[in-house]
Amino acid sequence: TGLVTLDSGFVNTASCESKITYIDGAEGILRYRGYPIDELANNSRFLEVAYLLIYGDLPDMDTYAAVVRRIKRHRLLHEDFKAFFTAFPSNGHPMAILQAGISGLATYYQHTLDPKDPYQIELSTVLLMAKVPTMISYISRRAQGLPLMYPDSSLQYIEDFIRMTFGMPYANHDVDPILTDALNKLLILHADHEQNCSTSTVRMVGSSEANIYASVAAGVGALSGPLHGGANEAVLRMLSKIQESDMTVQDFVNKVKNKEDGVRLMGFGHRVYKSYDPRASIAKQSAHDVLEKLGKSNEQLDIAMELEEIALKDDYFIERNLYPNVDFYTGLIYKAMGFPEEMFTPLFALGRLPGWIAQYREMITDPATKIGRPRQVYTGETERHWIPRSER
Ligand code: CMC
Repeated sequence: TGLVTLDSGFVNTASCESKITYIDGAEGILRYRGYPIDELANNSRFLEVAYLLIYGDLPDMDTYAAVVRRIKRHRLLHEDFKAFFTAFPSNGHPMAILQAGISGLATYYQHTLDPKDPYQIELSTVLLMAKVPTMISYISRRAQGLPLMYPDSSLQYIEDFIRMTFGMPYANHDVDPILTDALNKLLILHADHEQNCSTSTVRMVGSSEANIYASVAAGVGALSGPLHGGANEAVLRMLSKIQESDMTVQDFVNKVKNKEDGVRLMGFGHRVYKSYDPRASIAKQSAHDVLEKLGKSNEQLDIAMELEEIALKDDYFIERNLYPNVDFYTGLIYKAMGFPEEMFTPLFALGRLPGWIAQYREMITDPATKIGRPRQVYTGETERHWIPRSER
């Protein structure tokens, strides 16, 4: 009751207080728990950053070792669960399977579903961090008809994820540190981004006291859209389309400006950043480094750079403050690493996982949390009365 304010897309409405991530969109600043994103991306390991987001401080040596050990112990998926991955068409989108798989964890770990029990929340945090990479690698293997690989607890988190995704059971697979370092950096860049669409979804679902798996699975659904996490896949499709057509980069930019067929420059624009996305500058540098180190052809990187150069000088993009966002360069790196395009958004999900968990936990322990229940402005019919079908 009382005055209801309409704010489509929540452009001006804060839904919560949070101590996790700070963004200054005008200045292009992003900090996790106070630490600038570039310091974390250039120096940390992903699990260290996950710990920082979830618990509030960077772990010391002993704490970090204990966290790594604990996650290692839980990396296996239940053996019965393997059959689940064969129940979908092998060309089904990995995000759809991942969403279903994460909500399915609630059936195997029923002793971890109570959001009010700190012990259960602690265990579900570890289970999610441990099992989601195994699940993503299973989804990728199954899509290619390759044997599923068990986790190897002698390897580090990201190293083992890469081995499970690309290795073979009969071969010793030395994981190239170029790949591990690049993925480590990208996962850190994605680890949290305050109240974006998927995180708000996690909080919204969790606000009904739904379990953490149901809430994170809903976040995966939100992330799959091309305006959110699905943009990294859409960028690569856009670059391939430009590459394969006889269109010049300028022709494509003109199409975007004229809003022909609703075409957008994917990987550009952001609700909060009205200057360069700080994650995009790190990803751009990383794209150059990784492609060079792996000796990959970089025609698509050249197209991306030309797109950026043209767009940043063009009034359409200047007037609307449209800059490259994190998704603009990441797909190029994932592709150079050997991931198929459909796997790009699941990689984003893996990166965002600690953020979702941290936000769910903050929401559930905040005494100010209420069930999410927006109001609406009704624009339908006023009262009218039923008449028999024969008289309509
Ligand atoms: N290409 C062309 N025009 C654009 C673009 C774009 N990528 N983004 C925004 N605009 C235009 C839009 O048409 C509108 O123009 P007008 O005022 O003439 O109608 C104006 O800029 C404002 O756009 P908006 O849609 O009101 O902005 P928003 O804050 O609601 O949307 C966005 C933000 C990220 C959804 C949007 O910029 C977009 O669709 N970008 C492309 C998809 C993308 O890269 N998404 C990834 C976002 S970052 C990481 C993540 O969240 O996953």
